[in-house]
Amino acid sequence: MSDGSAIAAAVKAAHAQHANAPGGANASYIPYLASVPSTLAGVAVVTVDGMRYEAGDCKYAFAIESLSKVFSLALLLEDVGQEEVHEKIGAEPTGLPFNSVLALVEHQGKPLSPLVNAGAMATVSLVKAASAEERWTRILEIQSKLAGRQITISDEVNRSEQTTNFHNRAIAWLLYAAGTMYSDHMDACDVYTRQCSTLITCADLAVMGATLASGGVNPLTKERVLTASNVPHILAEMTMEGLYDTSGDWAYTVGLPGKSGVGGGILSVMPGMGAIAGFSPPLDPTGNSVRGQLMVAQIAKTLGWNLYQVRGS
Ligand code: DON
Repeated sequence: MSDGSAIAAAVKAAHAQHANAPGGANASYIPYLASVPSTLAGVAVVTVDGMRYEAGDCKYAFAIESLSKVFSLALLLEDVGQEEVHEKIGAEPTGLPFNSVLALVEHQGKPLSPLVNAGAMATVSLVKAASAEERWTRILEIQSKLAGRQITISDEVNRSEQTTNFHNRAIAWLLYAAGTMYSDHMDACDVYTRQCSTLITCADLAVMGATLASGGVNPLTKERVLTASNVPHILAEMTMEGLYDTSGDWAYTVGLPGKSGVGGGILSVMPGMGAIAGFSPPLDPTGNSVRGQLMVAQIAKTLGWNLYQVRGS
């Protein structure tokens, strides 16, 4: 385990250095996100033994957005197992934007990844439930167990998304046409949109990531939330598609599985050690938080958290 004072210093330094970094712009295709103060910036680390380190705006509740895709994938792996996820959703980077129609068309309606919008909606459609409401309840429950507290939806975010999600509805219809939706496609789109509209803090996100880092046991509540053998599949999907068309750059420069959301959240996980979560609304053109990436990358480097680095070298 890393030394606590070294982690505290790394978190503080990364925030001090990058919290005011210029560049990027809030997402505006979801009106709510454009209204979030762009100056917010926070970064947090939670270790597998439950130690917590925070700097900046770690208590501000922001929209989870695409980070939710990781947690619904986790639920689906519990429900149907890794082979079915691999066969029906896939495990390949698309190399294209997160809401690409082209990627879907090129691959005959197979989404390739549960972390792009098409794959995330297909994932929701596969979650075991007798109704859309039950599917939604189960997704909210897994988010809550991973965070170690009750997570709630923001009606304001949800309204903002549901009234503007025409592109996602078109993708849902394409999936339906290709036979790659496994329950009602419009219900899946609706529940997917709700799962993107829950509010989390940077501190929550670090706990969620640390639950993955510990092989599925929440380090704060000590509850086993996920089957340990499912976690490597989640982390592999994050490596391949977590930052969309810059996932390869993230793997190359940081060397950790990552995931971003257009609400400004970003997460990276070091298996067996802990998780680093960043939050700041301005995004780069790919949809990843500019300051979040800088803060998370710096902490990972300072702590020597890199999956591809031979220990002690
Ligand atoms: O479906 C969407 O477009 C949004 N609700 C989520 C997209 C997102 O967060 C992409 N991540 N960087």
